[in-house]
Amino acid sequence: MKGIILAGGSGSRLYPITNVVCKQLQPIYDKPMIYYPLSLLMLGGIKEILIISTPKDTPSFQSLLGDGSQWGIKLCYKVQEKPDGIPNAFVLGEEFIGNDDVTLILGDNLFYGDMNFFRQSLEKFISRKSSEAGHIFAYYVRDPWRFGVIELDEDQKIISIEEKPKKPRSNMAIPGLYFFDSSVVDKTKNLSASERGEKEIADLINHYFSENKLEATQITRGVAWLDTGTPKSFLDASSYVATIEERQGLKIGCPEEIAYRMKFIDKEKLTNVISSLPTSPYRQYLEEVFLENNHG
Ligand code: DAU
Repeated sequence: MKGIILAGGSGSRLYPITNVVCKQLQPIYDKPMIYYPLSLLMLGGIKEILIISTPKDTPSFQSLLGDGSQWGIKLCYKVQEKPDGIPNAFVLGEEFIGNDDVTLILGDNLFYGDMNFFRQSLEKFISRKSSEAGHIFAYYVRDPWRFGVIELDEDQKIISIEEKPKKPRSNMAIPGLYFFDSSVVDKTKNLSASERGEKEIADLINHYFSENKLEATQITRGVAWLDTGTPKSFLDASSYVATIEERQGLKIGCPEEIAYRMKFIDKEKLTNVISSLPTSPYRQYLEEVFLENNHG
């Protein structure tokens, strides 16, 4: 399984915050936003990840994250010249995906809580014997009209999928986290653009649905899915992360920690990585948790 983080877009809705620095490089409490979706992929054991962003921001992602070797993963980069739709991530990633399955996560989607929903669905998808070739998630929200909306029956079978419907058929939003087989590249190429001139992720998902190849998992109530579409949601996500980190003294979305816990790097490598970090509360955290107290 390969991973793609889509971290481009125009960011115009957040002007002037995003005038110079894109949304996914902005802080959510104590880390750049992209650390959180990257951490999720790493927690799923995904080690080959393509990061897609704008011509202007891609170099900044490269200098922030490097080639991933410090965390025992492989990061590569691709530029999206203009925001012509979420599914185009798969066309840009054609070579990277090859014949593998792929997980796409939007760079502004944050998940926190019991990540078993993700790990289990991922394992099930990778070892599938059924015709399933696409997998999406469903999350209960108060304001479904802001998202892709999925309607499920009592047996969790999919009834319908719509993008930002004015009259949603359910309260179930579709988070920006998707699993597809490698046919996603050709399926995307064959999609036509919508009225607003973009290829739509809902059309791609519906393509799998119409072929009876799509499954969905409802994310349980204990998991937080936070989106960052408005300044208020930035603040909410930051407050949420701050509250949990202050209470527990443990960090959410810390790639060094995850790399070590997932055994992508050993203690010696972790020690080297920590000593390369500037003196900061972040470095101090890693030293305290993994080196001095030996909690690792
Ligand atoms: O957050 C989940 C929602 O994300 C889903 O429920 C919707 O089905 C899906 O369409 C998407 O809705 P958004 O309104 O958030 O889409 P937006 O166009 O804002 O793009 C989402 C992110 O992807 C955003 O951070 C920018 C990035 N993006 C978007 C497009 C269209 C790109 O990097 N390139 C693109 O071409």
